[in-house]
Amino acid sequence: MKVYISNNIDALAAVAADEIEASLRRSAAPVLGLATGSSPLPVYRELARRVKLGLDLTEVTAFALDEYVGIPVEHPQCYAQVIRREAQIPLGLDAARVFVPNGRATDLSEACVEYEKAIASVGGIDVQILGIGSDGHIGFNEPSSSLASRTRVVALTAETRRDNARFFGSADEVPTTCVTQGIGTIRESGSIVLIAQGRTKSAAVAAMVEGPVSAVCPASALQLHPKVTILLDEQAAVELRFADYYRASYTVAELVQDDS
Ligand code: GLP
Repeated sequence: MKVYISNNIDALAAVAADEIEASLRRSAAPVLGLATGSSPLPVYRELARRVKLGLDLTEVTAFALDEYVGIPVEHPQCYAQVIRREAQIPLGLDAARVFVPNGRATDLSEACVEYEKAIASVGGIDVQILGIGSDGHIGFNEPSSSLASRTRVVALTAETRRDNARFFGSADEVPTTCVTQGIGTIRESGSIVLIAQGRTKSAAVAAMVEGPVSAVCPASALQLHPKVTILLDEQAAVELRFADYYRASYTVAELVQDDS
C-alpha cells in the first residue's frame, strides 16, 4: 500500500486524480468505480477542475459501489442522485455510461447478478475510488462480510446508520438495508484509491493498513490488493504505528493551485 499523509487536502486529491487519470489512460475502454460519501468529494473537485482544463472523461464507463434498498429515486440521498450530482455532471461523464445498483428492483438478487455481469461485460473496473466507514466498511460491506463477497443485499449496522443520519433527518430515516458491490468485486479492480479524513476514521484506518486481514475490518482486505493508494489527513492517520515510515516513503507535493 502507498500511504500518503497530509493536511493539504487539495494535494491529496491531486495524488488521487493523478492515479485515476493514469489508470484510465492505460485502458482502451476505461472504467471508473465511483464512491459516495463526503470523503471523495475533494477528488471529484480535482477531477472536475482537470476536466475544465481539457481532461476528457466522456468515453469513461462508471459504476457506483452501492445504493440503499427501497429509497425513492427522487430522494436526494438516493445514491443514483448523489452520483449524478457529485460525479457524473461535474466530471462530464456520459449519463448513459454511469451505472448505480438498483435498490428498487422487485428481484434484488437478480439485480445484483446483473450488476456483476454489467461490470464484467466492460472488462472490469480499472480504478476504484473508495472512502471508508468508521466501522471499517468499504462500499457498504459491513464487518463480518466475506472477503470474497460479490454484489448483494447487506443490512446496515447501527453505527453506519448513525453515521449517515447527517444526510437524512435522523438515524431512523436511514434505510436499514442496501445493495453493495462485494469485497471480492472491489478487489478485482485494477487499482484502488481510498481517501479518509478526520479522527472518527483513525481506528478503521489503522485496522485497514496495519491490522490483521479480517472480516472484522472489511477494508483490511485491501492489504491483499497489489495496487492501493491511501490518502489520509493527519487526524485519520493518528493511530498508525508506522506513520513516520509512510511519510518518509510517500511525499505529497504541497501544491498551490492557480485557477486564474
Ligand atoms: C457510506 C458509503 C461508503 C463511504 C462511507 C463513508 O456509508 N456507502 O462508500 O465510504 O459511508 O462516508 P463518508 O466519506 O461520508 O465519511
